[in-house]
Amino acid sequence: MKNYFKKDFWWGASSSAFQIEGAWDKDGKGKSVADHNSFMKSDVQADTTVASDFYHNYKEDILLMKELGLKTYRFSISWARIIPDGDGEVNQKGIDFYNDVIDFLLENDIIPFVTLYHFDLPFALVEKYNGWESRDSVYAFERYARVCYEAFGDRVKHWQVNNEQNLMVRVNIRMNIYDVPADQVERMRAQMDYHMFVAHALATNACHEMLPDAKIGPAVSSTMTYPSSNRPEDVWAARMNDNFKTNYALEMYCYGDYPGYYKEYLRKCDIYPITKPEDQGILKAAKPDFIALNYYRTLVASYLPADEANPFGTKVNDIDFDLYGYFKIEKNPNLVVTDYGIQVDPMGLRLVLNDYYEKYRLPLIITENGLGTGDQLTEDGKVHDDYRIDYLKNHIAACNDAIADGVELFGYCPWSVMDLLSSRQGFMKRYGFIYVDRDDFDEKQLRRIKKDSFHWYQEVIKNNGLI
Ligand code: BG6
Repeated sequence: MKNYFKKDFWWGASSSAFQIEGAWDKDGKGKSVADHNSFMKSDVQADTTVASDFYHNYKEDILLMKELGLKTYRFSISWARIIPDGDGEVNQKGIDFYNDVIDFLLENDIIPFVTLYHFDLPFALVEKYNGWESRDSVYAFERYARVCYEAFGDRVKHWQVNNEQNLMVRVNIRMNIYDVPADQVERMRAQMDYHMFVAHALATNACHEMLPDAKIGPAVSSTMTYPSSNRPEDVWAARMNDNFKTNYALEMYCYGDYPGYYKEYLRKCDIYPITKPEDQGILKAAKPDFIALNYYRTLVASYLPADEANPFGTKVNDIDFDLYGYFKIEKNPNLVVTDYGIQVDPMGLRLVLNDYYEKYRLPLIITENGLGTGDQLTEDGKVHDDYRIDYLKNHIAACNDAIADGVELFGYCPWSVMDLLSSRQGFMKRYGFIYVDRDDFDEKQLRRIKKDSFHWYQEVIKNNGLI
């Protein structure tokens, strides 16, 4: 197979603050929504108190990243470490920590690729304003972004505003939608989503103003949906599933407005968010420099006829909701499904890369892609994760194909650089190249052990792609 990866391709790996750092309340950090959610989970003992303890081990971990050969490390800054109550005093110790991380990455020739907000809104903003429901959180986010540009912008030249707003907004606990009357839930969700878009735009504009040589873009949870049959209604349903789960957000990021089908839905359901006249200018000015996408799987949809009594659809679960009048999610009998129900589909990655590039003509980078499994440390003291190697090898081949198709893909950052707190399954489900020796009930010594996939990815990077 011909290798289409350019010489300066960004081979990377990813993480996020609440999943890797631990030290949830150390050195002045405030509680975040992610901390709150992790403490509420009664079935999983591992929480953000220690996680992978990157906070105390960052030097050892970055040296492992260097050994792995990473060109870039995609990680997030914890807003509540920088501004513990969301919109008050800046915490110098938080700034110091990320300064140390960024400096040590650069010393080791690893490009810091920073997400400003990955599921971890400061909890104080929930208590004060009900989080994203209020415009106050929008301005708090812009200020936080400016604090980060000021503190780190001399060294960080690549930013993602937030991680997977389009998925986060569908999950009630991530948005703190509790005890809300059923008929108000979707109105609140629509308002929160809109406010996050305005915050995203303000942060993008501030970056362009304060750091003219930096690049910034959104990181979306990508959706690629196949029709369940060649019935025209099913083909339309598949397209609408992509539109409602991801494309409406990309339209807003790239063109500063909701697309027609989405406005129509919001109006029909009488949940159109409250907007301000100045928003139009803010949203339209905020042009992303690239699109970052997270890709794990594909979906299948068939047409679901309208039900006047149920305009908001039914929920298969938080993430994969069905929508009356539009789509219903089905299983794909052609794909292998992981233990955690993910339909593995490298060809889907090639398709979605082509799709986004054709639509938006912006450089693309994959900021998450990976296999979550219950890895075992074997008696020889190793982790033989050949299943992960297979998964990644096939997805890297799909990236190569997409580049051959003409897509401008400049980086690939698998999830995750090392084992970390899964957003739903603690340490039961692992994604890393580096095994962290702990489980949900015992932190043990948190030893770092290179998995077989570590050595394999090291060779991939050395060979600039295919092996
Ligand atoms: C992505 C998130 O959606 O999926 C990550 O950005 C998350 O934070 C990843 O960890 C995998 O999901 P999970 O639930 O297996 O951790």
